Amino acid sequence: MTRYRIAVIPGDGVGPEVIREGVKVLRAAADAVGGVDLDFVEFPFGAEHYLMTKELIPEEALKELSRFDAIYLGALGDPRVPPGVLEQGILLRLRFYFDQYINLRPVKLYQGVPCPLVGKGPEHVNFYVVRENTEDFYVALGGRARGSSSAELDLLRSLYEAKFKLDIDVDRDEIAYQLGVISRRGAERVIRYAFELARRKGKRRVTSVDKANVLTHVYGLWREVFESVARDYPEIETEFAFVDAVSMWFVKNPEWYQVVVTPNMFGDIITDLGAMIQGGLGLAPGGNINPDGVSMFEPIHGSAPKHAGKNVANPIATILAGQMMLEELGEKRAADVVEEAVAAVLREGKVRTYDLGGKSSTSEVGDEVVRKIENK
Ligand code: IPM
Ligand code: MN
Repeated sequence: MTRYRIAVIPGDGVGPEVIREGVKVLRAAADAVGGVDLDFVEFPFGAEHYLMTKELIPEEALKELSRFDAIYLGALGDPRVPPGVLEQGILLRLRFYFDQYINLRPVKLYQGVPCPLVGKGPEHVNFYVVRENTEDFYVALGGRARGSSSAELDLLRSLYEAKFKLDIDVDRDEIAYQLGVISRRGAERVIRYAFELARRKGKRRVTSVDKANVLTHVYGLWREVFESVARDYPEIETEFAFVDAVSMWFVKNPEWYQVVVTPNMFGDIITDLGAMIQGGLGLAPGGNINPDGVSMFEPIHGSAPKHAGKNVANPIATILAGQMMLEELGEKRAADVVEEAVAAVLREGKVRTYDLGGKSSTSEVGDEVVRKIENK
């Protein structure tokens, strides 16, 4: 019997409802394959806990989480808390603390799921986005400045005077700036992961998505690293694409893409687009992965406060995040059992939530996936 300790953070909004179905399905999959024992331990972090205690996620909790095999997260964000507080204080804190430098987001359209792209089906939408997860514009370096006394402002002002036509009045005009940072090592490790993933999954092409024509410093370095890593994988075809162009090509020719690797910010943006072409946010899972540490799995959708507590949210994204977790833990058979059950439920289309045009509840979808697992 292999035992895994999984930390569960249901979080806010629809988070607890979708996580409940995920846990239910993972338990059923573990029972079905045998030899796998999942021990789930719940943690309260999120809006409610923050409003009660003013605590986001304390250092001791992070230490405690580091003794788990993985983290299973619902969603974070609540209208009672200013935007960014919970997202930065909990979600990004976890990603950075555990150095989960890969954000793996499969874009896969399952049979039976309506696709908004005319003439495209499951054979056209099946690729991976590997999003860098710890650098770029997410490093939180920056500030705001006004008034003549600030050294930052003086520097920015002289840059403005030297390069641009706009005349900044230091007493009246405010400047805000934010730095994007890419390190050679940071780019190397995620790009290498993308090539290894391509090998493992039998994909033949890796696309680097960036904006090296404008943000020449950061993405110039990124491209250099991409080229050097690519040399170790001669059997894999490579290409560069700009992020604006890729936003068009994902819609026009999704079948072209196999593995896409991209810096943090663009990865954030293009995976919401990816989610739509795989049938919506209710179907899109993600893994925040540190191959040598504690990884965290979550749906890529948010907490959807307006649907909270109604038992209507689609739990499939969260269930598939659980499937990714099993795979990352090395339990491929259990992972396959989950995916096959989800695929069967989607293919039959009898039990589906409102976002897929159905009337079923969150828990009915979870129960149906469990039934499929048990009947195999
Ligand atoms: C995501 C989310 C987060 C991100 C937010 C909530 C901080 O949009 O996981 O894609 O930007 O990474
Ligand atoms: Mn996002």
